[in-house]
Amino acid sequence: MKTYTVSDLLSQDITLQQVDIKGWVRTFRANRFIALNDGSTLNNIQCVVDFENFDEALLKRITTGAAIHVKGELVESQGKGQSVEIAVSELEVLGDSDPETYPIQPKKHSFEFLRENAHLRTRTNTFSAVMRVCSSASFAVHKYFTENGFYNMHTPLITGSDAEGAGEMFRVSTLDPRNPPLNDDGEVDYKEDFFGKEANLTVSGQLEAETYAMSLGKVYTFGPTFRAENSNTSRHLAEFWMIEPEVAFMDLAGNMDLAEDFLKSVISYIVEHNKTDLEFLDNRLFDEEKTKPQADRSPMRLLEKLKFVTDNNFKRVSYTEAIDILRNSKPNKKKKFKYLINEWGADLQSEHERFLVEKHFKCPVILFDYPANIKAFYMRLNEDGKTVRAMDILFPGIGEIVGGSQREERLEVLKEKMAALDIPEEELWWYLDLRKYGTAVHSGFGLGFERLVMFATGMTNIRDVIPYPRTPQNAEF
Ligand code: 4AD
Ligand code: MG
Repeated sequence: MKTYTVSDLLSQDITLQQVDIKGWVRTFRANRFIALNDGSTLNNIQCVVDFENFDEALLKRITTGAAIHVKGELVESQGKGQSVEIAVSELEVLGDSDPETYPIQPKKHSFEFLRENAHLRTRTNTFSAVMRVCSSASFAVHKYFTENGFYNMHTPLITGSDAEGAGEMFRVSTLDPRNPPLNDDGEVDYKEDFFGKEANLTVSGQLEAETYAMSLGKVYTFGPTFRAENSNTSRHLAEFWMIEPEVAFMDLAGNMDLAEDFLKSVISYIVEHNKTDLEFLDNRLFDEEKTKPQADRSPMRLLEKLKFVTDNNFKRVSYTEAIDILRNSKPNKKKKFKYLINEWGADLQSEHERFLVEKHFKCPVILFDYPANIKAFYMRLNEDGKTVRAMDILFPGIGEIVGGSQREERLEVLKEKMAALDIPEEELWWYLDLRKYGTAVHSGFGLGFERLVMFATGMTNIRDVIPYPRTPQNAEF
């Protein structure tokens, strides 16, 4: 007898045959109807038990969360809501689940509660749907780059360089805390951290990806990234996954084209391959929106929002134009921005980004040519001497989803920028070598994987789109 998944059984027109299936009980109604889920799809298969044929003690063990093995005949369903069901002939409990203590009851749980039960939350519809979307998204990322001639590379997680220059690094140490090496002033010598060298967890694989782009042409990384920022927002994690393509001979305009095409392709893939999950998430979100005051409700449903992104051009706006728009706007009739933008050169706060995307342009926006002083050292300085060829992509409901730039390819200009920021040349001698030997225009960007999944699923807290979120509050599992 072939072993099927619930997805196999529900998606094919196979009736009147013997089937064999394993999964977890979602509910057991009227001592007769088991809703069985095995993770292969959001939907459950109904297993109908003729209770007279089974031992009462066995049926008592069919509780929410129990793992069971069912054999029976797949028949057309008599009831509403499903086309087929299993008429159970054999039933075995593989693993009991005590209904008194099992945390995931067949009712609506708050996301806060489920975060505390992160090891069990994928037994709910919402979290299993989100995690199936994550898996698809991950595959779609590799598919896009492979089909477009990119090589995948793994950049180091332990590194000596601070690619973003923001000082938000976790230190990696092999020191014995009871007996640390001391410098001449009697202080702990952290320069000795990693077998005699200073080492951190990476904040970005970009600098290493640049080295490979300058020989292999088109490369990308997709790996874990760490930021020791103590920001407790719904969009920041201390450990997240970043996708970073890097391309030789490509300028900022090409970088924008690549990022837009890539985002559209990945989102289209999800829309096409996760229909059941997205429809469920769309309805969940719609119900949630209905509880909000009219003015705060999202004008578009989730599926409409995804289609809007794949079918429309992103708006490209320079930082300078954006500042002008913000200066002349009020976010709503009465209120001004909490953080006023008066000065050209100020960094945008997330309320400004969201205003531009959600209220002003009402579509994804690519902001480019930022002031040099608010961006990282490696970005290509423009001819005006004060802006750099940076780009941030802003998405509705998310804010910044992508950050990227054309890189400074001129050795002397790069050295000057590093000197101005006190970055020692000895630390990045290999990075400077790229500008010494066969330098060329090149560009790339970083996409936060979890922010992409937030957008695709409509989830509003980044802690709910990664299996085990690492935040200042949350590193229990
Ligand atoms: O803008 P960021 O810091 O850019 C870089 O790291 C560049 N080196 C990328 C490159 O050009 N290769 O980060 C890129 C993206 C952000 O737009 C955001 O989506 C995500 O990474 N990100 C975070 N996601 C979750 N939690 C955090 N703490 C994040 N910080 C950045
Ligand atoms: Mg950024």
